[in-house]
Amino acid sequence: MISIEYILQLGYLVAAALFIFGIKGLGSPRTAVRGNHLGAIGMLVAVVVTVIMIQRGGPDGSQPTQWGWVVIGLAAGALVGAVMAKRVEMTGMPEMVALLNGFGGAASALVGLSELLRLGPEILIWDKLEAVGDYHLWRTVLVVAVGATSLIGWVTLTGSVVAMLKLAGKWSWSLSFGGVNLLKAALLAVAVVSSGMLLKDPTQVLWISLLIGSSALLGVIFVAPIGGADMPVVISFLNSLSGLAATATGFVVNNNALIISGALVGAAGLILTAIMCKAMNRSFLDVMFKAYGASSAASSSSDEKRSVRGYEADEAALAFDGARLVIIVPGYGMAVSQAQHAVRELAEELEAKGTDVRYAIHPVAGRMPGHMNVLLAEANVPYDKLYALDDINSAFSECDVALIVGANDTINPAAHTDPGGPLGGMPILDVENARTTIIVKRSLSPGYAGVDNDLFYRTSTMMLFGDGKKKIVELLASVKEL
Ligand code: TAP
Repeated sequence: MISIEYILQLGYLVAAALFIFGIKGLGSPRTAVRGNHLGAIGMLVAVVVTVIMIQRGGPDGSQPTQWGWVVIGLAAGALVGAVMAKRVEMTGMPEMVALLNGFGGAASALVGLSELLRLGPEILIWDKLEAVGDYHLWRTVLVVAVGATSLIGWVTLTGSVVAMLKLAGKWSWSLSFGGVNLLKAALLAVAVVSSGMLLKDPTQVLWISLLIGSSALLGVIFVAPIGGADMPVVISFLNSLSGLAATATGFVVNNNALIISGALVGAAGLILTAIMCKAMNRSFLDVMFKAYGASSAASSSSDEKRSVRGYEADEAALAFDGARLVIIVPGYGMAVSQAQHAVRELAEELEAKGTDVRYAIHPVAGRMPGHMNVLLAEANVPYDKLYALDDINSAFSECDVALIVGANDTINPAAHTDPGGPLGGMPILDVENARTTIIVKRSLSPGYAGVDNDLFYRTSTMMLFGDGKKKIVELLASVKEL
């Protein structure tokens, strides 16, 4: 006869399978919504199974669940989450995602800590009784997992908070002094030694405090020096860490669903980190330890004052007259000005006039992975018009107009001309090869990496100064009159 325990574990297996199909679905914009639904159903199955398991009591017949606290936690979490989601601007999403990564890490670390405080004194008693059987294995797994979840969890929390503040432009300490890597190694050593000492005596407050303190400081020292354009790598890596912390917590509380879902987040985050490193043409170790562009003060390519002519929309619109190929390059400014709908309308108007219009998507455009894809999908731009960097770069030399909407770092030739600079070596969209480049932005100020852009001063460039949406609407009106 099949036991209820067996059925419950089968429930976790179903949840895990749904997570995997869900993540697979997220791999393409066409299947992303279904993928999201599958993941959510998987989580519902996992929660229901866990609640039934708790109701049936732990394997050690431990304490009855205090449902009051569970309900308070659920209500508080749901309230804070709903308010944050309601209030957040689309441009604030990356900061919110960074902060939520940190919350995930903190939740894992707190569960680990509470299990240590709950079971530590009991462990000492069982040690004295010289317990046998599986006890020693269980004890080792528990304390090692608590050490891992604390180290990874606190690093994730403080690192994510620093990342959030950096994204919001509210963190200015680069902390990239000589010996910073040595300090990171020392903090890591303190955290590992503290975990080792807890293995001997899990009740020692000194080692618990040192583990938390060194891990929390490590998160700050680890993220603060990483500058400019490399933040996408850090954010996906922190995302991966939050998953690994959850996996370690799964071992602490002996929950298979947590182990599996945490491992999936950890693996997916690591794959994304590798993709981001490739997009930035950097090795992971270089990003983490070389502090590219940590002093993100603008590194102007020239000290001399150069003049720039600003164009009106009707002047710029003439460049579209008779154009065969137009490539639109969206960037962070399109998100800020919410210009995506106007951009789609302009593209449709050009297509109606017989122009081939494509969108060039740089892998780190905007402030979060897939930022431009999400915005353009929201504006109903067909997926097959979106081209990745490698697939579109050669087309710029045949293109009549490259229309840049609030992008800057991702088109900055300094990536080629200043190999030692913050953008050095990063593959960019070669818009300079287009016959005419129209750049829509509000001023000459640099992009996220703080590097001046030589393109603004080229004779083939038309600067269209102003808010992205307003200028695209003006361009559209002028194109209609052509
Ligand atoms: P950026 O280089 O950041 O440039 C965006 C430009 O948009 C700015 O120069 C700004 O110029 C302009 N802008 C801002 N508000 C605007 C508005 N209302 N209307 C028109 N223009 C506006 O953008 P990018 O080319 O997309 O590059 C992304 C950068 O962010 C990269 O350095 C990347 O590494 C970094 N980053 C990316 C991510 C991910 S995962 N995508 C995460 C963190 C950091 P004005 O002020 O003159 O208007």
